[in-house]
Amino acid sequence: MTTSSKTRLGRARAGANFALIKYWGKADARLNVPAVGSISITLDALFTETSVALDPNLASDELTLNGRRRDEDLEKISACLDLLRLKAEVTTRAAVTSTNNFPTGAGLASSASGFAALVCAAEAALGLELTPRERSILARQGSGSAARSIFGGFVEMHAGNSADGNDSFAEPLLDKDAWPLEVVIAVTTKAEKEVGSRSGMTRSATSSPYYAAWVTGQPADLRVGRDAIRARDFGALAEIAEHNCLKMHAAAMSAQPPLVYWNGATVECMHAIRRLRAGGVPVFFTIDAGPQVKAVCAPGARPKVEAALRGLPGVLELLTSRLGPGACTTP
Ligand code: PMV
Repeated sequence: MTTSSKTRLGRARAGANFALIKYWGKADARLNVPAVGSISITLDALFTETSVALDPNLASDELTLNGRRRDEDLEKISACLDLLRLKAEVTTRAAVTSTNNFPTGAGLASSASGFAALVCAAEAALGLELTPRERSILARQGSGSAARSIFGGFVEMHAGNSADGNDSFAEPLLDKDAWPLEVVIAVTTKAEKEVGSRSGMTRSATSSPYYAAWVTGQPADLRVGRDAIRARDFGALAEIAEHNCLKMHAAAMSAQPPLVYWNGATVECMHAIRRLRAGGVPVFFTIDAGPQVKAVCAPGARPKVEAALRGLPGVLELLTSRLGPGACTTP
């Protein structure tokens, strides 16, 4: 083990991502290995910026998120940093400062961009040179969806089946510029969610009668989603993404006690998006463990999607984004 007397700093930025074919459920909670693979898109306009300052004077890690000390999140952050410190053979504690440019913990994938940025910033601070796959495996242990934010554009996460979790990582599926889809996010609350995805997944897996069907149906959905993306077939992607999203929510809603992540505005947005598509506008929805609705549309359709969602009761704000790059260090 080596300890340096100087502070060493690493900075990184990572885009949020959300899944079109969802991850819901864990095969191994300790290693945070998902029960199913997933396919996502990484966003350009919603991101986390993180700095990691290794400081030999610190007795323990510190976390400041959006300008506020977050001791309640420190355990997960320290566990992730420990994995990187082990690789670098150092024990120095770190001051982590992180900012999201979008609402935190409200189902907008802040843990995905957060842990991807943390891994890249810590890698730089520790002077490690990891492969993208190693970064993805490390980010996964912080948050399953973070493994995907390491990469840009369309990304596939493999659930893997090895006991050590080393075949559970994400990989690029299609470059962002190869199919420049756009996203309109209808923000229907800015509050942090009541039941996080980690406990929501456990509750679904242990009490929903639909959970087993969700898991066994996933390889077929992944195949259809992957093929639709490779063929740039918007209609096929729209159908499978909405189907897969609603199956995930069916597994959550049928848990005991039930998990209803939606509010009234969520449902209004779903109907508005389906009406638009029936009228020929290339758009579909997806929803994660929160009430926000993500409308994915073909280039050029965004103004119509924004116009339809803006006026709906309960829609507080619209965020828009193109597809973005993978996580990277910043000066
Ligand atoms: O990475 P986590 O533990 O926040 O779980 C993410 C779960 C969903 O967002 C609901 C689905 C997904 O694939 O991102």
